[in-house]
Amino acid sequence: MRLKRTDLCGVLTKQDADREVVLAGWVKKRRDHGGLIFVDLGDRSGFTQVVFNPEVDKETHTQARSLREGWVISVKGKVARRPKDSINPKLNTGEIELMVKDLEILNISDPLPFPTDDEIDTDEEVRLKYRYLDLRRPTMQKNILLRYRLTRLVRDFLDKKGFVEIETPFLTKSTPEGARDYIVPSRVYPGEFYALPQSPQLFKQLLMVAGFDKYFQIVKCFRDEDLRADRQPEHTQIDIEASFVEEKDIYDLVENMLVSIFKNLRGVNLEVPFPRLRFEEAMEHYGSDKPDTRFGFELVDVSLWASEGSFEAFRRALDEGGKVKGIRIPHSSSLSLKDMDELCRWIRLYGANGLSWILLTPKGTRSSLAKFFSEGSLMKVAGDMGGRRGDGLFFVAGPRQVVNKSLGQLRLKLAKRFNLIPQGRYKPLWVVDFPLFERDGEGNLTSRHHPFTSPRDEDLSFLEDRPELVKARSYDIVINGEEIGGGSIRIHKRKIQERIFEILNIDSLQAREKFGFLLDALSSGAPPHGGIALGLDRLLMLIVGAGSIRDVIPFPKTQKAVCLLTQAPSPVDEKQLKELGLKVDGKPTSPK
Ligand code: AMO
Repeated sequence: MRLKRTDLCGVLTKQDADREVVLAGWVKKRRDHGGLIFVDLGDRSGFTQVVFNPEVDKETHTQARSLREGWVISVKGKVARRPKDSINPKLNTGEIELMVKDLEILNISDPLPFPTDDEIDTDEEVRLKYRYLDLRRPTMQKNILLRYRLTRLVRDFLDKKGFVEIETPFLTKSTPEGARDYIVPSRVYPGEFYALPQSPQLFKQLLMVAGFDKYFQIVKCFRDEDLRADRQPEHTQIDIEASFVEEKDIYDLVENMLVSIFKNLRGVNLEVPFPRLRFEEAMEHYGSDKPDTRFGFELVDVSLWASEGSFEAFRRALDEGGKVKGIRIPHSSSLSLKDMDELCRWIRLYGANGLSWILLTPKGTRSSLAKFFSEGSLMKVAGDMGGRRGDGLFFVAGPRQVVNKSLGQLRLKLAKRFNLIPQGRYKPLWVVDFPLFERDGEGNLTSRHHPFTSPRDEDLSFLEDRPELVKARSYDIVINGEEIGGGSIRIHKRKIQERIFEILNIDSLQAREKFGFLLDALSSGAPPHGGIALGLDRLLMLIVGAGSIRDVIPFPKTQKAVCLLTQAPSPVDEKQLKELGLKVDGKPTSPK
């Protein structure tokens, strides 16, 4: 390299006028005005307009004619103030330009598959295939740089609080976090496998037994689960564990950390302490265990009113011990019959049998319930629910859980559709008092969080007989309807851990085989301990306002768990398979 850079492309201002500098970067745009050639020369700090003028250097100007978007160059010249009429107040460097004397072409580039600007209309698949170009775009650069600032902030914050970062293995045994494992075959022991950790849960607990009383780690976790806009097969957690703590200690720590993060990265002041909502309340009022509390429109129990009409579906639900609940959504009275049919079909996905409605249109009231309730009765429930002209009221009848879940989903769907969610606001809260167990599809008890979560002391007596009543010492942190993190106070006594395994139908042989090392550790002086893990990618999504988790991860996978850049997963050689003692049944199937 002949011309060594002296400054970044996005930082020069009029204070630098008359300085001689060397800038290096990518040709973002090039305009040839015959006499003058203008190039926007950019790097991750921004860009500077550089000017090739034949009167400054004829040879350099001729050389500049060949420049194309994406080429890598360095240029030497003098910083000049721009003439008044070409000042761009939106740009950091908008008051200056560089009058180039010397140009070095460091590399040329093929024509790019898409421009590296923000305003592009390129399929995400193409962006992911050429991720290194996508990452050159200013928004992506901003997101990735913010990711770095976030991790630094977390490390500094926890370090100041006396936490130490300790690594835990990736080639290990499975930890149950509710997803399938990614498994790695062992060559040395054909037929045996490591599992990539779904989280460092057991190792962090072992570190407590070892006496590292304040642990953290910014760590990758691997889960083979159905992917969504906020899920990736490998995600990053801010994983935390501490000894001799109770719930309040974890709440304080996490609240202060989030206050510092939002202050520093968004300039937003979060109020502490964060509100706490019991799981039951969250389900009853919002129909979700991760309620979005930026807006109201909560679920209202209207069972009493519903019992007065002659609508068979309501009566049946109530007779069977269920509920009828409703929500009020402003501005939604304009929904058409066709919209209602669609909503009705959609809500069945959540188990509801149907959807009833009252639309308080400016011209009068329309309702699917008109045949079953008098006008007065419809207006009464509308009044009780705070209905005003322009509002829509929506009702679901059925078993309590189905009613809550489906109306909770409808609340979110309609709030989005009618733009009722305030933007730029952050509403964190803790959801607490979760049940320790839940039933899976086959009616078996499973852990709601994970099997190492401590039950509340006062509930220990009904562990065996009425396990569904036992509450966990666990907590989730939710911001704007996103589950940002979850954790618990752990079981630190072997006897209780063994009882939990039994209740979960893990017999003592299995428990020994799978978790023997944990049980031994718990009977070797395990201190009381607890912790939490925050989803770093999800937190960053919220901070930058990204609609997809992929926009905050440098090299993400698609919703189908494929890396379009490297084409992973992909078949391996016969020889490799043989060494591993593996045989593949059938042909490769990944969609590439
Ligand atoms: P949990 O399973 O709740 O807890 O995970 C903690 C947080 O990690 C994030 N998260 C994910 N983010 C992106 N993609 C995924 N597939 C994904 N899965 C989880 C969420 C979630 O709240 N070991 C326990 C923590 C503990 O008990 O201390 C654990 O992993 O934001």
